[in-house]
Formats: sequence, structure tokens, C-alpha cells
Amino acid sequence: MGNSRKVILAYSGGVDTSACIPFLKNEYQIEDVIAFAADLGQGEELEPIRKKALLAGASESLVEDLIEPFIRDFAFPAIRANALYEGKYPLSTALARPLIASRLVNLALERNAEFVAHGCTGKGNDQVRFDLAIASLAPQLKILSPARKWSMSREELIVYGEKYGIPAPVSKKSPYSIDLNLLGRSIEAGSLEDPFIAPPEEVFQLISSIEESPEESQEIEISFEKGYPVSIDGKALEPVLLLRTANSLAGKHGFGRIDMIENRVVGIKSREIYESPGLLLLIKCHQELESLTLSADVLRTKSQLERQWSDLVYQGFWFSPLKNALDSFIDSTQEDVNGTVKVKLHKGNAIITGRKSSSNSLYVSDISTYGAEDKFDHSSAEGFIYIWGLANRLWASVTSKK
Ligand code: ARG
Repeated sequence: MGNSRKVILAYSGGVDTSACIPFLKNEYQIEDVIAFAADLGQGEELEPIRKKALLAGASESLVEDLIEPFIRDFAFPAIRANALYEGKYPLSTALARPLIASRLVNLALERNAEFVAHGCTGKGNDQVRFDLAIASLAPQLKILSPARKWSMSREELIVYGEKYGIPAPVSKKSPYSIDLNLLGRSIEAGSLEDPFIAPPEEVFQLISSIEESPEESQEIEISFEKGYPVSIDGKALEPVLLLRTANSLAGKHGFGRIDMIENRVVGIKSREIYESPGLLLLIKCHQELESLTLSADVLRTKSQLERQWSDLVYQGFWFSPLKNALDSFIDSTQEDVNGTVKVKLHKGNAIITGRKSSSNSLYVSDISTYGAEDKFDHSSAEGFIYIWGLANRLWASVTSKK
């Protein structure tokens, strides 16, 4: 205890974050490096990672299961926001960063540490998300980021690590850079760096190819309460199980692969491949239910704010006054988003085939119908259109005189 220099390090077990441990001790004269790894449903054994941090010289190595809060407090709000960065990417990596950052901050405060650290490089978005989240939660903490300071290649990092007892990665190095959690996988680098080269089949792990997905389609029903997904095919599921179920259904039928050119915060364009089967499916169904239960003007305003919400989360402003204000707007709209969506999964597609809401449907059949029960007053349309087009009529009569 007392006044030793202490850091809480976001630790993943990879080459970079492992090298951070001796680097923080030697170059920054930190005595206590406390490694922190989070289970976000990446399906990876965390005990070897915990031990690896100790081997690398951490004074303590902590692992925490954050799957539940990750889905409940980060993924579910993103579903209610129909969050798609640049209209495509459901933020599977971006959503994890503020959660990890908040745990780093809490640990730093509990342990009386002056520093927090991460292994992000200077080229990516994750450094921005960590740094901004930490700054919003505990502006007094100092952030150390060795990977922005050293200029070592991957090979040099492995040699550097070995000097300090960190075993070189056993598996043959894949050419790809991968990030993984229960919301999806992101794959970059290797041959993907040529935007014209199709992603080789080997990069995908969660989602079947169209060729290998079942010939037979599968129709499922997803129900929502206050904009939160609550059941699949009538079976109530807790958030984590619901996401796992959506992942496996969509993944099996080849739905949820993304191939895009993305604009990073630091100004770089990058070619990104994502697999995000469950989250994309849930967003799609949620959007559909909103089309039935929200009024046209709310839908229009919400879709503009969704874009802003997604940009904020992508750019690291999860904890910010504007994001909070947008959340309040979204919360108030979601009171009405109750009901069920029917969707057919088949060969890479998720095709909406129905939607219903017993309490909030704004689709009123005796107004919408073309049948005999029609209650719509057709004659009122004439006066409405006269006034609706009046400004145009005046403009036309004036300009035609010229
Ligand atoms: N481009 C994506 C994002 O910014 C994925 C980042 C993946 N992160 C990583 N450290 N490999 O959200």
C-alpha cells in the first residue's frame, strides 16, 4: 500500500498489452502493474490470460465477467437507438470500450492508483474511446499508453516480451487483426487491406457462408417490451441468452456479415469486415416494430438523432452530456415500442414478414383499409391539399407572368 506508483492496465493477453507490462515497469518506473481483463463473451479461456499477466510481471491480475452488464447496459441501448455507424456497423467493438474504461477507473479509485493504461496504438479508434471515457469519469487520472510511445514492430515486441519471460504466441500468426466479443467480430489487415479483394472465407467464424447455410428458410418471432428484446418464438430470455440465441439463429442462416470502408476518428479510411449476426438482426426487427408503433414525426426525428448517437458512441463520447440528452429522448420514445416482429432467415437474408402490437399499433385498420369498413373522410382531402399546395400555386402564378 502507500505511495508506490501504481497503474491499472486494460489487459487482453495479446502481444501488445503483454509487452506493456515490462514497458510500464521499466520505462515509466511503475512498481505495481495491475492487469485487468474483461470477459465480454468472447468465448476465450481467461484463466491462461490471467496467468500470462503475472508471468509478464504484473503484481496482480484480475479477470471479471462483464457479459451481463455489457449486453444489458450497452448492447440493449444500442438496439433501442438502432445504432449503425455510417449506416452499417453496429458498434460491436465500440460499445465494449466505455464499459472496460469504467472498470479501469473504478479499480484505480479503489486501489488508489494514479495511472490507468491501455495497449492501443495511435492509429485506431479504441485509444480515443478509452481516453475520452476515462477523462469523463475521472479527469484526475493519468493515462499511459505505451503502444503510442514505443516504435517496435510486432516481431520486435515478441523479442522484447521474451526478454521479460513472456512466451511468444504459440499459434502461427494469423495475418488478421481481430477483436471479438458477444456482439460480434471485427477483422482487419492481411489481404483485406486491398478494398477490392473479396474477404477470404477463412476470416469468418460466426456466420455461415451463403453456400453453406441451410436450403430451408426459418421464420422466427422476436418480441420487444419498451424497445428491449425480451423473447424469441414466445420464449422469454434474459438479455445474454437472448443475444446468444439471436447470434446462433442469424449466424446459421448466413445473416450479419458486413464488408465496408469505414471512416475512423483519426481521419484514416479502413477496410473492415464484421460479423455481427444477433445484434444486426435485433436492430432490424426493432426498427420494424418502431415503424408500426411510433408516429411519423417521432420516427423522422429519431432517425436523425440515431445517426448522431452512433457517431458519438463510435467517436468515444459514451459518457457525455449530449449522449445523455439523446438517451433521454430515446427513452421517452421507447415506452411505445411493444410488440412482435416476424422475420424469415434464409441464405444471408433476414426478411421481415410481419409485425404486430396489441397495445401500441398506430396502424388503425378502419382508417388504413381499402375495404368497405373505411372510415377515412375522403372529402376532407380536397381542402387539405388546396392549402398544402397554396404556396406552390402562388409561386407558379407569379413566375408564369415573367
Ligand atoms: N473499426 C472498428 C471500431 O473502431 C473495430 C476496431 C477493432 N479494434 C481492434 N483493436 N482490433 O470499432
